[in-house]
Amino acid sequence: MKVREILVTSALPYANGDIHLGHLVEYIQTDIWARAMKAQGHQVTYVCADDAHGTAIMLKAEENGITPEEQIASVKAAHEADFAKFLIEFDNYHTTHSEENKHFSELIYRRLNSAGHISTHDVKQLFDPKKQLFLADRFVKGTCPECDSPDQYGDNCEVCGTTYDATDLKDPRSTLSSATPILKTSKHYFFDLPEFEQFLKDWTRSDNRLQTSVANKLQEWFDAGLASWDISRDAPYFGFQIPDTPSDEPDKYFYVWLDAPVGYMASFKNLCDKRAGTERALDFDRYWLQENENKTEVYHFIGKDIVYFHALFWPAMLAGSEFRTPTGVFAHGFLMVNGEKMSKSRGTFIKAETYAEHLHPEYLRYYFASKLTDKVEDINLDLEDFMQKVNSDLVGKVVNIASRSAGFLVKKYDGMLSEVCAEPKLLEDITKTGDEIAAAYENREFSRAMRLIMQCADKANEYIDEKKPWALAKLEGTEQEVQDVCSVAINIFRQLMVYLAPVLPELTANAKGFLNIDDLSFASRHEWLLGHKINKFKPLMQRIEEKDVAAMVDASKASLEQTATPATSNSTKSAADTKTDAQADYIGIEDFSKVEMKVAHVLACNHVEGADKLLQFTLDVGEDKPRNAFSGIRKFYEPEQLLDKKVICVTNLAPRKMKFGVSEGMVLSTGDPKTGLTVVTLPDDCVVGDQLA
Ligand code: 2FM
Ligand code: ZN
Repeated sequence: MKVREILVTSALPYANGDIHLGHLVEYIQTDIWARAMKAQGHQVTYVCADDAHGTAIMLKAEENGITPEEQIASVKAAHEADFAKFLIEFDNYHTTHSEENKHFSELIYRRLNSAGHISTHDVKQLFDPKKQLFLADRFVKGTCPECDSPDQYGDNCEVCGTTYDATDLKDPRSTLSSATPILKTSKHYFFDLPEFEQFLKDWTRSDNRLQTSVANKLQEWFDAGLASWDISRDAPYFGFQIPDTPSDEPDKYFYVWLDAPVGYMASFKNLCDKRAGTERALDFDRYWLQENENKTEVYHFIGKDIVYFHALFWPAMLAGSEFRTPTGVFAHGFLMVNGEKMSKSRGTFIKAETYAEHLHPEYLRYYFASKLTDKVEDINLDLEDFMQKVNSDLVGKVVNIASRSAGFLVKKYDGMLSEVCAEPKLLEDITKTGDEIAAAYENREFSRAMRLIMQCADKANEYIDEKKPWALAKLEGTEQEVQDVCSVAINIFRQLMVYLAPVLPELTANAKGFLNIDDLSFASRHEWLLGHKINKFKPLMQRIEEKDVAAMVDASKASLEQTATPATSNSTKSAADTKTDAQADYIGIEDFSKVEMKVAHVLACNHVEGADKLLQFTLDVGEDKPRNAFSGIRKFYEPEQLLDKKVICVTNLAPRKMKFGVSEGMVLSTGDPKTGLTVVTLPDDCVVGDQLA
């Protein structure tokens, strides 16, 4: 067999949030694949890193009152701890904020530049005059230019679905400071993607590099036309400065997505340096130089939301800078929990750490394996099915084979297995199924692999049920037969451990101790255990208890109001550098600062005819026109009591159309709407229109 030299990567998680089950789909998928390919005798190197640059990380550090370097160091440690719990076995875990990454990002850029693939032109962009930074679309909100819905983000309207430029928004404001952004021009650096169109068309359609649905998606993008890619960002930005820019011009930084994929190379280089001179030395050039493209293989596992970066920008950057391109890019779908997007309020936005506090990570590895295919389909973690499947397959079928047969062997035969296999046909059959299972792993058809493995387990259990060693053992003169039956069962169990080792590394490692063997490679299954002594059986896996799943869900439940967040592989959008952390249970200062509260003067307060709960307010909030607002406090106040008072009004709540008119603000009260509300009033000397902070 030819030993293949394979480098495999998972997408780099951002250094501003915790790892959650949505992320884990990908790391578990890649880890299983890497382990399965290693078990088939190939030389596989699995690297990853934290994606440490960008505005979101810079702001997160600011919010936490620490430097970006401190921020990324603490998140990296947390990420590594989470990955270790889930038995993700990276050969190297690095960071994009590293010397190696700076080196390769600059090298690639310089090569692209000298080959004429970089150009500059002026870009007009919204700029926050308070925070003194350019605002990516996610940081601008305003009124939709198409349908006039207020409070829409700078890239598209959630009400009418129109996509537009942030500069088209009416009444734009910065979500970071509430300031009204100004339009400012600055010079940007562009990578000439259209020049690579023909190369990319050939690349995406050749050598089975991409899944069919991904290749089709790319065709749509080709049809729509490729555009030059803006690879620069202005200061302040946490990232690498673009080299060789004119010294009399302001500093420019690489956009986070320029140096993120270079992080794959950088992490690998870091590993090569660590291993230099050892038995496991790796040759960087062999994996990344164009001329060596056919000697080694490079695969990227990614989520479906970042295909554009990995199947267009990245291969074009590599080809344009004389590096080899990936052998394959494999996209997976998003994770749903109980058939819906993960949701904090339902307790289904589950962090890796929370899961691991309640349940064994191998349960999840198996469940994901049983769901994953080579398609770009979303996968559903149905918690009821999860419990049922793990208990029935792993505990009920697989572990049961060993627990039903080991006792007899250890008690009566000192752990010795028969010298001769009593059911060679059965064992051959299961050994042979290993070829199909190996192929299913390689083709990322894990769900098929798990089905084949469970069919083998079913055969073993049927065999034991038919032979009934427990009944045989009570009869005279059946010693040999009992030993034979149990030995066949243990041999099948051993095969199952080989097949399941990529998915259940811990359970199978423990099984090695019990089976008294030291090899679980795929090839090892051809040597059956005959005349071999096993050790005492210890339970290898406990059943999942409903109460533990419930406790995990409870622990994940946010006390905050319901916020449904898509559980993507890693990011939610391609504008990923601007994504703020949606995973924390707290709201960040930027969320809080989105709420605009102003001192309001009650110009009029009246009953509302036909509404026995409402009072109507006319409020001066320091604008040209007074605002109209309704409040459900009629039971607790006579209108005169509030007339002329200074109250607090939330002024940037979306206007609500009610039966009696449009409510254009919310008057703040304390208490309980059922038993009594008290309107918060302010001292008379408060200035109308002033913001509360
Ligand atoms: O989408 C994300 O979460 C990015 N941090 C993935 C980067 S993958 C690679 F290109 F670095
Ligand atoms: Zn709209």
